[in-house]
Amino acid sequence: MAHGKAKEGDGNWKKFIWNSEKKEFLGRTGGSWFKILLFYVIFYGCLAGIFVGTIQVMLLTVSEFEPKYQDRVAPPGLSNIPQVLKMEISFDPGNPTTYEKYVKLMENFLKRYDSENQKDTDTDFDSCPVVPSGYIERGKYDESAGTKKSCRFHRTWLENCSGLNDTTFGYKDGKPCIIIKFNRVLGFKPKPLQNGSESLPEELKGRTNPFLIPLHCAAKKEEDIDKIGIVEYYGMGGFAGFPLQYYPYYGKLLQPKYLQPLVAVQFMNITQDVGGVRIECKVYGENIYYSDKDRFQGRFDVKFDIKRS
Ligand SMILES: *[C@@H]1O[C@H](CO)[C@@H](O)[C@H](O)[C@H]1NC(C)=O
Ligand SMILES: *[C@@H]1O[C@H](CO)[C@@H](O)[C@H](O)[C@H]1NC(C)=O
Ligand SMILES: *[C@@H]1O[C@H](CO)[C@@H](O)[C@H](O)[C@H]1NC(C)=O
Ligand SMILES: *[C@@H]1O[C@H](CO)[C@@H](O)[C@H](O)[C@H]1NC(C)=O
Repeated sequence: MAHGKAKEGDGNWKKFIWNSEKKEFLGRTGGSWFKILLFYVIFYGCLAGIFVGTIQVMLLTVSEFEPKYQDRVAPPGLSNIPQVLKMEISFDPGNPTTYEKYVKLMENFLKRYDSENQKDTDTDFDSCPVVPSGYIERGKYDESAGTKKSCRFHRTWLENCSGLNDTTFGYKDGKPCIIIKFNRVLGFKPKPLQNGSESLPEELKGRTNPFLIPLHCAAKKEEDIDKIGIVEYYGMGGFAGFPLQYYPYYGKLLQPKYLQPLVAVQFMNITQDVGGVRIECKVYGENIYYSDKDRFQGRFDVKFDIKRS
């Protein structure tokens, strides 16, 4: 009996796939299948249309020159050249191969600042003041006025850290230089501290300029304070800081020759042979913040481990 039943079932199943009496395939007629197919084609077509449409509208409101959501950009970080692994610079002043890599990194970085790359006749630059002064606004963040000019920054301002006279940047004498830049953020205008000196380190008081974002380097740990020795700063006009006329930055497309202002710092007699001295450099301003999570926001630290053999 069971056998017969199965046979009957088989017949129903075949009938379901193709019912020749009603001309139905899988229980539907050709016309019904066509309607379903048509429905899904239109349905997915509309979905795809909405998707493409919203992306197009989104793109229309986004400028190639100015990021739309500036508020998501973290405040600029501070960084140093040479950029080194584990933020540690270790060398032996008597052995050039130990500091060669640092010198190369600095030399490569400073090439853009050579006078031949910012000639007097180069119209991508204009004659900005050569002492710290106010912001230079250069119009809208679009190409309606073509590319924009930039301020020159002369390598010679870095004096003994320029690598021009002493091509080892002080490393051969155990007086290492580092070059410090404030990372560029499109449209950002750093604001100097309004109420002057209160939150500034002692050494900076009375030595800043109203148009400058001052920089200061000190020992990171209390116990290293007497190991850091004399620190020399080199920058525009002899000031240790970033002058405001280099801001705001308009971006690579609009300011192709933009030169970030630099400060070079030289450690004249940092203690040697003690397994390293960690220093921390910080910039000070109203809209400059420090974060425990981001060690490079508004500051950075680097260890100097100088061993003489
Ligand atoms: C290099 O040395 C010359 C002569 O000592 C000096 O006049 C010049 O200012 C120095 N240049 C730099 C960038 O220190
Ligand atoms: C720069 O280097 C020259 C030559 O070594 C030295 O006489 C001068 O004192 C240095 N300048 C500073 C500010 O240390
Ligand atoms: C700056 O000083 C003025 C008056 O001296 C005061 O009203 C203001 O709150 C101060 N601002 C800050 C950021 O300390
Ligand atoms: C660096 O030199 C100054 C002046 O000569 C001296 O007072 C200071 O103790 C020295 N510091 C170090 C760490 O050698």
